[in-house]
Parts: sequence; structure tokens; C-alpha cells
Amino acid sequence: MADTSSTTPLFSPELISQEVVSQLPEGYGCRPIQRQDYHNGFLDVLRVLTTVGDVTEEQWNERYNWMSARNDEYFLLCITDSSDKIVGTGALLVERKFIHNLGLVGHVEDIAVAKDQQGKKLGLRIIQALDFVAEKVGCYKSILDCSEANEGFYVKCGFKRAGLEMAHYY
Ligand code: ACO
Repeated sequence: MADTSSTTPLFSPELISQEVVSQLPEGYGCRPIQRQDYHNGFLDVLRVLTTVGDVTEEQWNERYNWMSARNDEYFLLCITDSSDKIVGTGALLVERKFIHNLGLVGHVEDIAVAKDQQGKKLGLRIIQALDFVAEKVGCYKSILDCSEANEGFYVKCGFKRAGLEMAHYY
């Protein structure tokens, strides 16, 4: 059943790499998101990535409950600054397959760092934190789609080009 507390982490904090935390700027933190992050700048950070829309707290709670009930599949984490405001976020979705001996594949999604916080290696730390989760939960690889403009960032994070993205929009 979904947890209703406002400060319960979406997934186990044991999946947060302490090595990554130790490499953040002084006073910054990295943690799973929690329900009250609706009031903590989470959606604003995502607005640097794309359109978010006007998500009400009721809608947020409904979606949060859905993810919380699947907390072995949805790993959304955030970087906080010294005033505990969210300044970066990223998500790992874990897909369970039949192929590759019932393999698990991590899908890296919705990486965003607040405009005034870019260039401080926070994006890199988010990816390293998601890599740690993926490895811990048993993924054999993580994959992502990005624009050409962001390829250099992901190369710096250790990813390499593999294949081609195709889409159907509905
Ligand atoms: N192209 C090439 N290199 C880059 C880019 C880029 N677009 N962005 C950062 N880098 C380099 C940095 O110079 C740095 O290199 P260095 O180690 O030689 O100094 C390295 O990558 C790490 O950079 P960070 O400081 O960690 O990057 P930042 O914190 O600014 O975050 C991010 C990068 C997430 C792309 C940020 O600019 C952002 O939020 N952009 C808007 C949203 C976005 O496009 N998100 C990615 C969508 S794709 C997806 O979600 C799967």
C-alpha cells in the first residue's frame, strides 16, 4: 500500500551512494524524493527540462502514490542545496525482462539541474547516484535518450552512443 507520510522517502535511502554525497558541494545533499517535495521546488527544477504543466497537489499525490506502490521500479532522487531546496533531479526506471536471463534494464529519465546551479558537476553526481542504484538493484545496463546537444554531457558521465531513438507520438 502507498505510504501517506509527507517525509517518507520514495525508496530506500540505503540506495543513495555515500561516495556521491561526499563529492557534492558543502551543505548539499542527495536523497530519494518524498511527498512534501511538491512544496520544495521539485517541479520547478523539471521546468528547465520541458513543459510540466499546472500539476495540483492532489494530482501530485495521486501520481506519487502510484510510484510509491512501485518503489522497486521507480527511483526518483534529488540534489538539495544548503537550504534544503531541490536544485537537481533524475530518475531511474527499472524494467524487468524475460530476455538476458530475466535481466533488468535501467532507464535513465528526466535529468535536470536548476539553471543557476549548472556547471557545478551536479548533473554528473545525479548520473553517478542513479548508476549506483541501477547496479545495486541488479541492472545489467542503463540506457537513455538525449538530444545531440547533451551527448557531450553523457559521454563525460561514461555513456557511449548505442543505437538510434525512434518515436511515435500519441
Ligand atoms: N555538452 C557537452 N558537455 C557538457 C554539457 C553539454 N550539453 N553539459 C555539461 N557538460 C560537461 C561539463 O562541462 C562537465 O565537463 P568537465 O567534467 O570537463 O568539467 C561535465 O559535462 C559534467 O557537467 P555538470 O556540471 O555535471 O553538468 P550540469 O550540472 O550543468 O548538468 C545537464 C548538465 C543535466 C544537462 C543540465 O545542463 C540541464 O539540466 N540541462 C537542461 C535539462 C536537460 O537537457 N536535461 C537532460 C535531458 S536528457 C535525459 O533526461 C535522459
